[in-house]
Amino acid sequence: MIPVANRVAGLRPTAVNSILAEVRATPGPLVSLMRGEPDLPTPAHIVEEAQKALANGRTMYPDQRGEPRLREAIADKLIRDNGLRYDPATEILVTTGGTFGIYAALAAMLNEGDAVMVPDPVYDAYLSPIRLTGAVPVAVPSAIANGRFVLTVEALEAVWTPQCRALLLNTPWNPTGTVLTRKELEDIAVFCERHGVTIISDEIYEAIVYEGHEHISPATVLRDRSVVVNALSKTYCMTGWRVGYVAAPAEFTRAMLLVLQQSSRGPATFVQDAAAVALSGPQDCVAAMRAEYSRRRELVLSTLPNMLAPEGGFFAMMDLRHLGIPSDMIRKRLLEEFGVVVVHGAAYGPGGEGTLRVSFASGGETLDRGLAKLNQALRSL
Ligand SMILES: Cc1ncc(COP(=O)(O)O)c(C=O)c1O
Repeated sequence: MIPVANRVAGLRPTAVNSILAEVRATPGPLVSLMRGEPDLPTPAHIVEEAQKALANGRTMYPDQRGEPRLREAIADKLIRDNGLRYDPATEILVTTGGTFGIYAALAAMLNEGDAVMVPDPVYDAYLSPIRLTGAVPVAVPSAIANGRFVLTVEALEAVWTPQCRALLLNTPWNPTGTVLTRKELEDIAVFCERHGVTIISDEIYEAIVYEGHEHISPATVLRDRSVVVNALSKTYCMTGWRVGYVAAPAEFTRAMLLVLQQSSRGPATFVQDAAAVALSGPQDCVAAMRAEYSRRRELVLSTLPNMLAPEGGFFAMMDLRHLGIPSDMIRKRLLEEFGVVVVHGAAYGPGGEGTLRVSFASGGETLDRGLAKLNQALRSL
């Protein structure tokens, strides 16, 4: 038998992975409103750039910080979209998707016994990387108020301990759909300053924000204590390309570079060329994508009852707390009796109990059939 490290014992598959295993074992035609994978193709001009780069022999090792052209494009994008100024030479790294950016930030920051505050409900793929570093996640309970999940400073204060090094959050917030407001971020920033907590800010859904809401990077209110993590995965429908980036003050970026150099060494060179074109080329593909998700969101909200209208992202939470049934039980019945796959809110922490996460990352016939089945199921629950 090959021994497995103790620190791996605390790692768990994500909720989506566990449900996928159940789905594979469930017979019959199923329709899935579960995953966070855009069903739209990568825009043609980005694909063409990768093909051109491949044909031109852009297949050797990339610069370990990320190809200079891509780091320049990221720096320009951060100014254009976020009003943030980062030096492409010293404050930006290119990573293998957002996932590696989060890992690099955690690995560069945490010591054994440290703690990382995460919102509850949480994008559950944050938990195992925190544990892998020897740190522990600390859940910050959120509340549903006025139709949206909110994270208050009182809740942060209530769970804070001197071991808390970082607050790892995402806005727009998967799974809840909340987009944190400037006021909320300013309050969180004051809390972070008071306790010397760094924000690791996952902004992967930044481009998918609906009318009346605005994505604000926490770094605009707390630049010296923020690590910005982002990826092209959702904005440019590039989930399989595995390309993202981090931006942070130079000294911390150097630490993340050490982690990156000893592990992933970044995405393929030709992928980085395509990513540079995605960020600096025409952005009408992003507007078209946002319009498509906006249509799907309207369809979901007008078809299903008890929905919390998402402010951003492509997930909507259905609030079934009044039924008093554990969300996992509801999810299982939806799967086994009605053939529709969603994620139970409790999979993301106790704060999600009583809710279901419905994804509209897939549209068209899948969404139509899924919504019809969900409606039919809800009538019988
Ligand atoms: C909040 C959040 N962060 C990060 C990721 C993963 O990003 P990437 O595919 O770029 O690694 C996801 C994917 O679903 C996500 O929902």
